[in-house]
Amino acid sequence: MNLNAFYKQLEKIVSSATSPRVIDSGQGPYLTIDGVKRLNFCSSHYLGLTEDKRIRRATIEAVKKYGIGTGYRTLAGTHAIHLELEKAIAKFKKTDGAVVFSSAYLANCSAIQTILGKEDIVISDELNHASIIDAIRLSQVSNKFIYKHGDVKDLEVKLKQAVKIAKKPRSDGGMPVILIVTDGVFSMDGDLAPLPQIVRLARKYKTLMMVDDAHGEGVLGKGGRGIVDHFGLAGQIDIEVGSLSKAFSSMGGYIAGRKTLIDYFKLRARPRLFSIALSIPDTAASLEAIKILLHSDAPVRKLWRNVEYLRTEFKKLGFDIGNSQSPITPVMLGDEKLASEFSARLFKNNVFATPIVFPMVQKGKARIRVIPSASHSKQDLDLGLKAFAGVAKELKVL
Ligand SMILES: Cc1ncc(COP(=O)(O)O)c(C=O)c1O
Repeated sequence: MNLNAFYKQLEKIVSSATSPRVIDSGQGPYLTIDGVKRLNFCSSHYLGLTEDKRIRRATIEAVKKYGIGTGYRTLAGTHAIHLELEKAIAKFKKTDGAVVFSSAYLANCSAIQTILGKEDIVISDELNHASIIDAIRLSQVSNKFIYKHGDVKDLEVKLKQAVKIAKKPRSDGGMPVILIVTDGVFSMDGDLAPLPQIVRLARKYKTLMMVDDAHGEGVLGKGGRGIVDHFGLAGQIDIEVGSLSKAFSSMGGYIAGRKTLIDYFKLRARPRLFSIALSIPDTAASLEAIKILLHSDAPVRKLWRNVEYLRTEFKKLGFDIGNSQSPITPVMLGDEKLASEFSARLFKNNVFATPIVFPMVQKGKARIRVIPSASHSKQDLDLGLKAFAGVAKELKVL
């Protein structure tokens, strides 16, 4: 192997990439970048809890009690605060139980890899998050069906094919499991999965049902309980995956669901067995965020007031903001270069909102993904809107 050529190839790729901006502040409504305070207009800390005083206090108290580091839970014991967090998540999500991982990426990997083997069957929305795609690869499942985005007719076509395959026993004698998996909120467009129709099909064809609610919890449903609550489907989803890095403003992921499934994941999920438990500060921060939401839905209501205001004003200005049903507000620009130039000019106006281009979205569908948070005031949103209007005029976009 020519190592020189190998490294040259890598250098070519990395030298053409742009580096992320360096942030010198917390992730509040404003960020400090290059010594300048700029509006934070694209963060998925929906409820603006990253700098919340109650969370800071709870985290400091937990660090005083436990320190920072944790252990491998099955080998070195489990901290009481991990169990407390799992109990709080189950209460919040109205499920029998929950198990925590150090990210939603790993929670998705755990959920799919632990349930599916080579001879099982998965049916997945074509726009599912990368962590679901990677989880499916990791499971090595050979019968993969990808249905058109949000298209329940296509899902049923795929289900009929899956049911035929599932009639043949696996080589271990068991019958193949069929799993339908979908994002709840799709992170690039902000649209929702048609969950009631999908659940109806899951019941009709007797399959397992999994939803990734990373962008729904803390946002949708009563008091931010998530997409399952939003559609009144409590108890009808086998596996709910969530992230603690978005509305809950910390870090970590979880699976919530029926007790037997959760106990099975605790026993078998490889990312739980072979990777360290969530750190104490992250655990304490997430626990406090959930306690805040169990106590009051004020941050969720504030978030939605901001979303409604921003959307109305963007539309009044004449922007195309897609068909989002969540706080994710894609300002559609189409052309990739235009989206990058638009974002660069916003930055000059002290508004931080990054462009989303291929391969994150299809070619020709570039956009700036704006996400307001509950920590923005009306003045903050107006500042962002004014910058968008100004740049649009300069670039003759509208
Ligand atoms: C739908 C979805 N699932 C999972 C994840 C992974 O979340 P985490 O940061 O907790 O690994 C993301 C993150 O962007 C996401 O958008």
